[in-house]
Amino acid sequence: MSPVGLSEDLVDAINGVSGVHRGFRAAHAKGVVCEGTFTARPEGAGLTRAAHLQGEPVRTTVRFSNGNGDPGAHDGSRDGRGMAVKFYLPDGSRTDIVSLTLPCFFARTPEDFLEFTRARKPDPETGQPDMQRVGAYLGAHPEAQAAIQAALSTPPAASWAQCTYNSIHAYALVNAAGERRFVRYRWLPEAGEAALDDEEARGLQADYLREELERRLGRGPVAFELRLRLAAEDDDVDDPTVPWPEGERDEVSAGRLEVTGFDQTRERGGDVLVFDPSRVTDGIELSDDPILHARAGAYSVSVARRTS
Ligand code: HEM
Repeated sequence: MSPVGLSEDLVDAINGVSGVHRGFRAAHAKGVVCEGTFTARPEGAGLTRAAHLQGEPVRTTVRFSNGNGDPGAHDGSRDGRGMAVKFYLPDGSRTDIVSLTLPCFFARTPEDFLEFTRARKPDPETGQPDMQRVGAYLGAHPEAQAAIQAALSTPPAASWAQCTYNSIHAYALVNAAGERRFVRYRWLPEAGEAALDDEEARGLQADYLREELERRLGRGPVAFELRLRLAAEDDDVDDPTVPWPEGERDEVSAGRLEVTGFDQTRERGGDVLVFDPSRVTDGIELSDDPILHARAGAYSVSVARRTS
């Protein structure tokens, strides 16, 4: 299949599960756009020559979101949450880190993503997916289990400011001496993690996460620490379905992101905001992870459709 055909098919499959909602992202439809500043620590600069990881404060745009493609879905649903950060570099270019609350992904290739997402399409009569088809997929793809378990066992978020977010994909960092190390990114919330039980969350307003964040930002900035989780010798850096065991990887604290308020300028008056996990800069390289490489095309299709 041509890459363009695959990208269209990926977005069509997501639409099949969560519907088509004009003007919204096909996935992560509901979210808020914020502004902030990232300041790197010297420890990260030893691993990469990337401009935003040297120490000078860098302006950022940050979008918090729910994974669902339905912008009307209640915030209290069990769902992965997203945090996407765009760094504005001194030379005028940009680089993005796009992350999720899941520690790993449920598909190893875009073809698997397509097959599983198509299997999850609800039957128009029952509103439920064909569980036999879903079960057959999962039987044939044990690598999907870790992400699905994580998704099912994570209670609803209490606040976008109190989630830990993971890049899932690995990236190669290259330092001034040309040395390469693979890392996965992680954002740790300074306010600590917090969740709600399902009943409590369903009793709140459908958009409680936006309201909570607005109140919180009214009291002061929301901060995250950027951790670089270093790959071990035998980690498969191209496989997003395998979580790296907690506490068993060296980690470097690379800096602090301070989110200061809602951004009143982006996504207004025709402005188009796109976060792309393959938008890297000098000092950062992509792994060969096939999911990582499939994303830019699918995001472009979603962007073309949401802005037309
Ligand atoms: C083949 C696999 C995937 C497909 C087809 C896919 C598809 C999409 C699409 C269509 C969008 C909306 C893009 C837009 O309109 O700007 C999106 C957004 C997003 N995706 Fe994925 N995605 C995939 C994998 C992942 C993975 C592995 C992560 C983990 C980090 C992830 C995290 C996100 C986040 C956080 C957003 C929201 C970005 C924003 O706020 O603009 N996705 N995805």
